[in-house]
Amino acid sequence: MSGYDKTRSQESANFYENTKARIQKIQSHLANSPRGTRLKDKVCIITGVGSLKGIGRASALLFAHEGAKHLYLIDFDPTNLPDLKATVEKLYPDVKVTTLQGDAADETLISGVCEQALREQGKLDVFFANAGIATKDPLESTTSESFMNVMRVNSLSCFLAVRYGSAAMKKVNASRGKTTTGGSIILTASVAGLRSGAGTIDYSASKAAVNSMAKNAAYQLQKTDIRVNSICPGLIETGMTTDTFDYARKRGADAKIGQLNPLGRFGVAEEIAQAALFLASDDSSYINGQNVAVDGGLSSSHPVIPGRWA
Ligand SMILES: NC(=O)c1ccc[n+]([C@@H]2O[C@H](COP(=O)([O-])OP(=O)(O)OC[C@H]3O[C@@H](n4cnc5c(N)ncnc54)[C@H](O)[C@@H]3O)[C@@H](O)[C@H]2O)c1
Repeated sequence: MSGYDKTRSQESANFYENTKARIQKIQSHLANSPRGTRLKDKVCIITGVGSLKGIGRASALLFAHEGAKHLYLIDFDPTNLPDLKATVEKLYPDVKVTTLQGDAADETLISGVCEQALREQGKLDVFFANAGIATKDPLESTTSESFMNVMRVNSLSCFLAVRYGSAAMKKVNASRGKTTTGGSIILTASVAGLRSGAGTIDYSASKAAVNSMAKNAAYQLQKTDIRVNSICPGLIETGMTTDTFDYARKRGADAKIGQLNPLGRFGVAEEIAQAALFLASDDSSYINGQNVAVDGGLSSSHPVIPGRWA
Protein backbone atom coordinates (compact mmCIF):
# COMPACT_ATOMS: atom_id res chain seq x y z
CA MET A 1 0.00 0.00 0.00
CA SER A 2 1.40 3.42 -0.94
CA GLY A 3 1.80 6.19 1.63
CA TYR A 4 -1.13 8.04 0.04
CA ASP A 5 -3.37 4.95 0.22
CA LYS A 6 -2.38 4.36 3.86
CA THR A 7 -3.35 7.91 4.77
CA ARG A 8 -6.70 7.61 2.94
CA SER A 9 -7.42 4.31 4.61
CA GLN A 10 -6.59 5.74 8.06
CA GLU A 11 -8.79 8.77 7.36
CA SER A 12 -11.74 6.61 6.43
CA ALA A 13 -11.21 4.37 9.49
CA ASN A 14 -11.21 7.50 11.70
CA PHE A 15 -14.32 8.81 9.95
CA TYR A 16 -16.16 5.54 10.57
CA GLU A 17 -15.18 5.53 14.26
CA ASN A 18 -16.56 9.09 14.55
CA THR A 19 -19.73 7.99 12.74
CA LYS A 20 -20.31 5.15 15.19
CA ALA A 21 -19.79 7.50 18.16
CA ARG A 22 -22.17 10.05 16.59
CA ILE A 23 -24.88 7.43 16.09
CA GLN A 24 -24.50 6.13 19.62
CA LYS A 25 -24.95 9.69 20.92
CA ILE A 26 -28.08 10.19 18.78
CA GLN A 27 -29.53 6.90 20.00
CA SER A 28 -28.93 7.70 23.67
CA HIS A 29 -30.55 11.14 23.38
CA LEU A 30 -33.88 10.08 24.92
CA ALA A 31 -32.30 8.42 27.92
CA ASN A 32 -30.20 11.52 28.56
CA SER A 33 -32.70 14.32 28.06
CA PRO A 34 -35.48 15.56 30.33
CA ARG A 35 -39.14 15.08 29.42
CA GLY A 36 -40.49 17.62 26.93
CA THR A 37 -43.90 19.16 26.34
CA ARG A 38 -43.97 19.51 22.57
CA LEU A 39 -46.87 17.05 22.22
CA LYS A 40 -48.57 17.84 25.52
CA ASP A 41 -52.23 16.74 25.46
CA LYS A 42 -52.00 15.48 21.87
CA VAL A 43 -53.94 12.38 20.84
CA CYS A 44 -51.88 10.52 18.22
CA ILE A 45 -52.16 7.51 15.94
CA ILE A 46 -48.98 5.88 14.60
CA THR A 47 -48.88 2.94 12.18
CA GLY A 48 -45.98 0.54 11.60
CA VAL A 49 -44.69 0.53 15.18
CA GLY A 50 -43.89 -3.17 15.50
CA SER A 51 -40.29 -3.39 14.36
CA LEU A 52 -37.76 -3.15 17.19
CA LYS A 53 -35.37 -0.98 15.17
CA GLY A 54 -38.10 0.75 13.19
CA ILE A 55 -39.08 4.37 12.68
CA GLY A 56 -42.55 3.75 14.16
CA ARG A 57 -41.29 2.44 17.49
CA ALA A 58 -38.70 5.21 17.82
CA SER A 59 -41.44 7.74 17.11
CA ALA A 60 -43.85 6.24 19.65
CA LEU A 61 -41.17 6.51 22.35
CA LEU A 62 -40.27 10.07 21.37
CA PHE A 63 -43.91 11.18 21.19
CA ALA A 64 -44.43 9.74 24.69
CA HIS A 65 -41.27 11.50 25.92
CA GLU A 66 -42.75 14.76 24.64
CA GLY A 67 -45.94 14.34 26.63
CA ALA A 68 -48.48 12.88 24.19
CA LYS A 69 -51.75 12.18 25.96
CA HIS A 70 -52.84 8.98 24.25
CA LEU A 71 -50.97 6.92 21.64
CA TYR A 72 -52.90 4.54 19.38
CA LEU A 73 -50.21 2.23 18.00
CA ILE A 74 -50.86 -0.10 15.06
CA ASP A 75 -48.88 -2.88 13.41
CA PHE A 76 -49.70 -5.83 11.21
CA ASP A 77 -47.23 -7.97 13.16
CA PRO A 78 -48.32 -8.32 16.81
CA THR A 79 -45.01 -9.78 18.08
CA ASN A 80 -43.52 -6.65 19.63
CA LEU A 81 -46.67 -4.68 20.47
CA PRO A 82 -46.89 -5.86 24.13
CA ASP A 83 -43.24 -4.92 24.70
CA LEU A 84 -43.75 -1.48 23.17
CA LYS A 85 -46.82 -0.83 25.31
CA ALA A 86 -45.02 -2.01 28.47
CA THR A 87 -41.91 0.05 27.67
CA VAL A 88 -43.86 3.28 27.10
CA GLU A 89 -46.01 2.74 30.18
CA LYS A 90 -43.00 2.02 32.37
CA LEU A 91 -41.00 5.04 31.20
CA TYR A 92 -43.96 7.42 30.85
CA PRO A 93 -46.81 6.34 33.17
CA ASP A 94 -48.84 9.47 32.31
CA VAL A 95 -49.13 8.46 28.63
CA LYS A 96 -52.05 6.22 27.69
CA VAL A 97 -51.21 3.51 25.16
CA THR A 98 -53.58 1.46 23.04
CA THR A 99 -52.04 -1.12 20.70
CA LEU A 100 -53.95 -2.57 17.77
CA GLN A 101 -52.91 -5.47 15.57
CA GLY A 102 -54.03 -4.90 12.00
CA ASP A 103 -53.40 -3.75 8.47
CA ALA A 104 -52.77 -0.03 7.99
CA ALA A 105 -54.43 -0.36 4.58
CA ASP A 106 -57.64 -1.80 6.04
CA GLU A 107 -60.35 0.84 5.77
CA THR A 108 -62.42 -0.59 8.62
CA LEU A 109 -59.42 -0.61 10.97
CA ILE A 110 -58.34 2.94 10.11
CA SER A 111 -61.79 4.52 10.20
CA GLY A 112 -62.37 2.54 13.42
CA VAL A 113 -59.26 3.77 15.23
CA CYS A 114 -60.09 7.38 14.32
CA GLU A 115 -63.60 6.88 15.75
CA GLN A 116 -62.11 5.21 18.82
CA ALA A 117 -59.89 8.24 19.46
CA LEU A 118 -62.91 10.55 19.15
CA ARG A 119 -64.97 8.34 21.45
CA GLU A 120 -62.28 7.93 24.11
CA GLN A 121 -60.45 11.26 23.94
CA GLY A 122 -62.92 13.50 22.14
CA LYS A 123 -60.37 14.51 19.49
CA LEU A 124 -57.55 13.46 17.19
CA ASP A 125 -54.48 15.68 16.82
CA VAL A 126 -51.83 13.65 14.97
CA PHE A 127 -51.87 10.78 12.48
CA PHE A 128 -48.41 9.45 11.58
CA ALA A 129 -48.96 6.99 8.69
CA ASN A 130 -45.63 5.22 8.73
CA ALA A 131 -46.33 1.54 7.94
CA GLY A 132 -44.67 0.33 4.78
CA ILE A 133 -43.05 -2.56 2.99
CA ALA A 134 -40.14 -2.71 0.56
CA THR A 135 -39.76 -4.96 -2.47
CA LYS A 136 -36.63 -6.47 -4.01
CA ASP A 137 -37.45 -7.57 -7.55
CA PRO A 138 -36.07 -5.89 -10.67
CA LEU A 139 -38.52 -4.79 -13.38
CA GLU A 140 -38.47 -8.12 -15.28
CA SER A 141 -39.73 -10.08 -12.30
CA THR A 142 -42.07 -7.50 -10.77
CA THR A 143 -45.61 -8.82 -11.15
CA SER A 144 -48.89 -6.94 -11.32
CA GLU A 145 -49.77 -8.60 -8.05
CA SER A 146 -46.68 -7.39 -6.23
CA PHE A 147 -47.10 -3.93 -7.76
CA MET A 148 -50.67 -3.65 -6.52
CA ASN A 149 -49.75 -5.05 -3.11
CA VAL A 150 -47.03 -2.47 -2.49
CA MET A 151 -49.35 0.27 -3.73
CA ARG A 152 -52.01 -0.98 -1.32
CA VAL A 153 -49.75 -1.17 1.74
CA ASN A 154 -47.65 1.94 1.10
CA SER A 155 -50.05 4.30 -0.71
CA LEU A 156 -53.58 3.24 0.18
CA SER A 157 -52.61 3.23 3.87
CA CYS A 158 -51.61 6.89 3.55
CA PHE A 159 -54.79 7.75 1.67
CA LEU A 160 -56.86 6.21 4.47
CA ALA A 161 -54.88 8.16 7.08
CA VAL A 162 -55.58 11.39 5.20
CA ARG A 163 -59.21 10.52 4.51
CA TYR A 164 -60.26 9.38 8.00
CA GLY A 165 -57.63 11.21 10.02
CA SER A 166 -58.70 14.56 8.58
CA ALA A 167 -62.40 13.81 9.13
CA ALA A 168 -61.64 13.21 12.82
CA MET A 169 -59.44 16.32 13.02
CA LYS A 170 -62.34 18.42 11.75
CA LYS A 171 -64.35 17.53 14.85
CA VAL A 172 -64.37 20.31 17.41
CA ASN A 173 -64.73 19.48 21.09
CA ALA A 174 -64.36 22.50 23.36
CA SER A 175 -64.74 20.41 26.53
CA ARG A 176 -61.52 18.55 25.58
CA GLY A 177 -59.68 21.75 24.70
CA LYS A 178 -60.22 21.52 20.94
CA THR A 179 -62.01 24.73 20.06
CA THR A 180 -61.19 24.80 16.34
CA THR A 181 -60.53 22.21 13.65
CA GLY A 182 -56.91 21.21 13.14
CA GLY A 183 -54.20 18.60 13.34
CA SER A 184 -51.11 17.21 11.69
CA ILE A 185 -50.99 14.28 9.29
CA ILE A 186 -47.51 12.92 8.56
CA LEU A 187 -46.91 10.32 5.87
CA THR A 188 -43.70 8.31 5.59
CA ALA A 189 -42.65 8.39 1.95
CA SER A 190 -39.01 7.95 0.89
CA VAL A 191 -36.26 9.55 -1.15
CA ALA A 192 -37.23 6.76 -3.58
CA GLY A 193 -40.45 8.72 -4.13
CA LEU A 194 -38.52 11.84 -5.15
CA ARG A 195 -36.41 10.38 -7.94
CA SER A 196 -34.99 7.16 -9.28
CA GLY A 197 -32.11 5.20 -7.81
CA ALA A 198 -33.22 4.44 -4.27
CA GLY A 199 -35.58 1.49 -4.65
CA THR A 200 -37.51 -0.86 -6.90
CA ILE A 201 -39.95 0.48 -9.47
CA ASP A 202 -43.08 -0.50 -7.53
CA TYR A 203 -41.76 0.74 -4.17
CA SER A 204 -40.62 4.04 -5.69
CA ALA A 205 -43.95 4.58 -7.45
CA SER A 206 -45.85 3.86 -4.24
CA LYS A 207 -43.77 6.47 -2.39
CA ALA A 208 -44.14 9.05 -5.17
CA ALA A 209 -47.90 8.62 -4.71
CA VAL A 210 -47.45 9.33 -1.00
CA ASN A 211 -45.52 12.52 -1.74
CA SER A 212 -48.24 13.59 -4.13
CA MET A 213 -50.94 12.97 -1.53
CA ALA A 214 -49.19 15.23 0.98
CA LYS A 215 -49.30 18.08 -1.52
CA ASN A 216 -52.84 17.44 -2.73
CA ALA A 217 -54.34 16.87 0.68
CA ALA A 218 -52.93 20.15 1.99
CA TYR A 219 -55.11 21.93 -0.61
CA GLN A 220 -58.10 19.65 -0.18
CA LEU A 221 -58.01 20.54 3.50
CA GLN A 222 -57.43 24.25 3.11
CA LYS A 223 -58.55 26.57 5.89
CA THR A 224 -59.05 23.71 8.35
CA ASP A 225 -55.64 24.10 10.07
CA ILE A 226 -55.02 20.46 9.25
CA ARG A 227 -51.50 20.19 7.88
CA VAL A 228 -50.31 17.29 5.72
CA ASN A 229 -46.62 16.63 5.07
CA SER A 230 -44.52 13.64 4.09
CA ILE A 231 -41.10 12.60 5.32
CA CYS A 232 -38.63 11.18 2.81
CA PRO A 233 -36.05 9.15 4.71
CA GLY A 234 -32.76 8.22 3.05
CA LEU A 235 -30.90 5.08 4.05
CA ILE A 236 -31.91 4.26 7.62
CA GLU A 237 -30.88 1.21 9.62
CA THR A 238 -34.20 -0.45 10.55
CA GLY A 239 -35.86 -3.83 10.20
CA MET A 240 -36.50 -3.02 6.55
CA THR A 241 -32.81 -2.57 5.70
CA THR A 242 -31.32 -5.28 7.95
CA ASP A 243 -30.32 -7.43 4.95
CA THR A 244 -28.42 -4.57 3.31
CA PHE A 245 -26.55 -3.76 6.51
CA ASP A 246 -25.81 -7.42 7.33
CA TYR A 247 -24.52 -8.02 3.81
CA ALA A 248 -22.21 -4.99 3.95
CA ARG A 249 -20.93 -5.92 7.41
CA LYS A 250 -20.25 -9.50 6.35
CA ARG A 251 -18.11 -8.19 3.51
CA GLY A 252 -16.29 -5.77 5.81
CA ALA A 253 -17.80 -2.87 3.87
CA ASP A 254 -19.81 -1.35 6.73
CA ALA A 255 -17.76 1.86 6.67
CA LYS A 256 -19.05 2.45 3.15
CA ILE A 257 -22.75 2.35 4.01
CA GLY A 258 -24.25 5.74 3.29
CA GLN A 259 -21.16 7.10 1.55
CA LEU A 260 -23.26 8.57 -1.30
CA ASN A 261 -24.71 11.40 0.80
CA PRO A 262 -22.67 14.41 1.92
CA LEU A 263 -22.83 13.42 5.59
CA GLY A 264 -21.18 10.19 4.46
CA ARG A 265 -23.14 7.93 6.78
CA PHE A 266 -26.41 6.04 7.17
CA GLY A 267 -29.17 7.29 9.45
CA VAL A 268 -31.03 5.73 12.36
CA ALA A 269 -34.73 5.57 13.21
CA GLU A 270 -34.38 8.15 15.99
CA GLU A 271 -33.40 10.79 13.41
CA ILE A 272 -36.59 10.23 11.41
CA ALA A 273 -38.59 10.23 14.64
CA GLN A 274 -37.26 13.73 15.42
CA ALA A 275 -38.56 14.96 12.06
CA ALA A 276 -41.93 13.32 12.74
CA LEU A 277 -42.04 14.98 16.17
CA PHE A 278 -41.33 18.38 14.66
CA LEU A 279 -44.07 17.95 12.05
CA ALA A 280 -46.50 16.58 14.65
CA SER A 281 -45.93 19.47 17.04
CA ASP A 282 -47.13 23.05 16.83
CA ASP A 283 -43.48 24.04 16.25
CA SER A 284 -44.13 23.33 12.55
CA SER A 285 -47.43 25.26 12.45
CA TYR A 286 -46.69 26.89 9.06
CA ILE A 287 -45.23 23.85 7.31
CA ASN A 288 -47.82 22.28 5.05
CA GLY A 289 -47.92 20.26 1.82
CA GLN A 290 -44.18 19.51 1.90
CA ASN A 291 -42.07 16.46 1.15
CA VAL A 292 -39.35 16.74 3.77
CA ALA A 293 -36.17 14.81 2.97
CA VAL A 294 -34.30 13.46 5.98
CA ASP A 295 -31.46 11.82 4.14
CA GLY A 296 -28.10 13.33 5.08
CA GLY A 297 -28.31 15.48 1.96
CA LEU A 298 -28.62 12.56 -0.49
CA SER A 299 -31.41 14.08 -2.56
CA SER A 300 -29.91 17.57 -2.67
CA SER A 301 -27.49 16.91 -5.51
CA HIS A 302 -27.06 15.44 -8.94
CA PRO A 303 -24.62 12.53 -8.90
CA VAL A 304 -21.18 13.83 -7.97
CA ILE A 305 -17.78 12.65 -9.14
CA PRO A 306 -15.71 12.72 -5.94
CA GLY A 307 -12.78 15.09 -6.26
CA ARG A 308 -14.39 17.27 -8.89
CA TRP A 309 -16.69 19.62 -7.10
CA ALA A 310 -17.05 17.52 -4.01
N1 LIG B 1 -35.39 2.14 6.45
C1 LIG B 1 -35.20 2.92 5.42
O1 LIG B 1 -34.07 3.08 4.91
C2 LIG B 1 -36.39 3.68 4.85
C3 LIG B 1 -36.12 4.62 3.85
C4 LIG B 1 -37.18 5.32 3.30
C5 LIG B 1 -38.47 5.09 3.75
N2 LIG B 1 -38.70 4.16 4.71
C6 LIG B 1 -40.09 3.98 5.13
O2 LIG B 1 -40.17 4.10 6.53
C7 LIG B 1 -41.35 3.45 7.00
C8 LIG B 1 -41.02 2.64 8.22
O3 LIG B 1 -40.17 1.57 7.86
P1 LIG B 1 -38.91 1.12 8.70
O4 LIG B 1 -37.71 1.50 7.94
O5 LIG B 1 -39.05 1.52 10.12
O6 LIG B 1 -39.04 -0.46 8.50
P2 LIG B 1 -39.42 -1.64 9.50
O7 LIG B 1 -39.60 -2.81 8.61
O8 LIG B 1 -38.42 -1.71 10.59
O9 LIG B 1 -40.82 -1.19 10.09
C9 LIG B 1 -41.99 -1.19 9.33
C10 LIG B 1 -43.15 -1.66 10.19
O10 LIG B 1 -44.35 -1.57 9.42
C11 LIG B 1 -45.13 -2.74 9.69
N3 LIG B 1 -46.06 -2.98 8.58
C12 LIG B 1 -45.78 -3.40 7.34
N4 LIG B 1 -46.91 -3.52 6.63
C13 LIG B 1 -47.92 -3.14 7.44
C14 LIG B 1 -49.32 -3.03 7.28
N5 LIG B 1 -49.92 -3.33 6.14
N6 LIG B 1 -50.06 -2.61 8.33
C15 LIG B 1 -49.47 -2.30 9.52
N7 LIG B 1 -48.16 -2.39 9.72
C16 LIG B 1 -47.39 -2.80 8.70
C17 LIG B 1 -44.11 -3.84 9.84
O11 LIG B 1 -44.65 -4.97 10.52
C18 LIG B 1 -43.00 -3.13 10.60
O12 LIG B 1 -43.19 -3.24 12.00
C19 LIG B 1 -41.85 2.62 5.81
O13 LIG B 1 -42.96 3.29 5.22
C20 LIG B 1 -40.67 2.61 4.86
O14 LIG B 1 -41.07 2.44 3.53
C21 LIG B 1 -37.68 3.47 5.27
